[in-house]
Amino acid sequence: MSVKNVVTNHLTNRRVLLAISGGIAAYKTPELVRQLIKSGAEVRVIMSASAGQFVTPLTLQVLSGHPVYSDLFELEQAAEQPDHHEQQNSAMNHIELARWADVILIAPATANTITKIAQGMADDLLSTTLLASTAAIMIAPAMNSQMWLAEATQKNITQLQQRGTTIIGPASGELACGEIGEGRLVENSVLLQALNHHFSEGPLSGVQITISAGPTREPIDPVRYISNRSSGKMGYALAEAAQRMGADVRLVSGPVSITPPVGVTLIQVESAREMHSAVMENSGEIFIACAAVADYHLSEVPVQKIKKSNSVLTLTLSPNPDILKEVAQQATPPFTVGFAAETENLEKHALNKMAQKGIDMIAANLVGDVDSGFDHDHNRLSVYWRDGVSQLELASKKIIAEQLMSLVHKQFLTQK
Ligand code: PMT
Repeated sequence: MSVKNVVTNHLTNRRVLLAISGGIAAYKTPELVRQLIKSGAEVRVIMSASAGQFVTPLTLQVLSGHPVYSDLFELEQAAEQPDHHEQQNSAMNHIELARWADVILIAPATANTITKIAQGMADDLLSTTLLASTAAIMIAPAMNSQMWLAEATQKNITQLQQRGTTIIGPASGELACGEIGEGRLVENSVLLQALNHHFSEGPLSGVQITISAGPTREPIDPVRYISNRSSGKMGYALAEAAQRMGADVRLVSGPVSITPPVGVTLIQVESAREMHSAVMENSGEIFIACAAVADYHLSEVPVQKIKKSNSVLTLTLSPNPDILKEVAQQATPPFTVGFAAETENLEKHALNKMAQKGIDMIAANLVGDVDSGFDHDHNRLSVYWRDGVSQLELASKKIIAEQLMSLVHKQFLTQK
């Protein structure tokens, strides 16, 4: 897919610094440069020393129309001698390059490069330029799946996300090492889409939204848990709709098997208490609680598996924190949107929940229906706020999410 297939092209005259690190997926970058230029972006390319083993600087130089460097000293020398050869009058030193960029995209980003950036190292051209820049940074990891899942890599990724770095992918599939798993560089179309989105200005542009989604799991013993049938579809559709409106979306998700929208910051949790910590850390300017949160957890989780016996088994449960209520009770709360999952008396229960939790809006769904609610692709909602109500008739969760986000946007503006 090229950017022209995306709603609008926002890449014209945008300055994209593509930083390529040394992985086999680097072979895909010449086509990425070509497509970026075709979309109207200005592109400069830098490479790590090992990236040159996978793609030639000359190819990238011809496609971008500018010199491509991997060596810090070579770049500084070229910048000082503008007449050295034909193309080098466009050479900048690494500080100028760092200031020039509107966005820096590191693709592919190896585990080594990710570690260096997370640690703030500056021992080559790529890492030094990154450290010297205040531009937005987007990272598209590509590596063997064990390396990606390694605790060290995941910690580095979390740290980078907390600093506002956008992580794109990785995708799952066949890897260069022959294994199948997570670690592939996402397709160029996904990178273009993420860059395009970065520059889009929607009605919620720059607004921070936190959305909770999916179920939570409360362990009973080391192998069992209490959970529910939430698939995450409704919450993920909301994240996508909010992102399309330009919002910065943090998606705090319980265990689900669907892929998050590109560019959304995903925080994966298991239990209600983990979800509570993640949401309280940053509930944004708008908080939408779509997760089906367990109301209780086991008071004491045994260390060993509970053995089967013929006697009645009694589990003692303690209440979980009410995440939504706590968010709404903060000194300066965000605009709060709750969901009510009911099997009867929808309006009455929803309005009670709205009052009891002190929230701004509630989206109520009947979860006993055969065509909507938990795990269905469709839903219907009755949405209530202080002085209004709207019925969202049966439609796909993607459409319902767009309609709900539009109501949220209107009410958010009136309360600002
Ligand atoms: O994920 P899907 O399969 O797409 O299904 C979507 C959905 C049916 C899960 C979704 O539309 C929905 O209704 N989500 C809320 C489910 C729920 O837990 O509702 P509740 O009525 O029990 O809770 C009321 C509100 O309080 C919810 O916003 C919930 O996120 C929040 N809550 C509840 C308990 C708790 N301890 N903390 C909370 O924040």
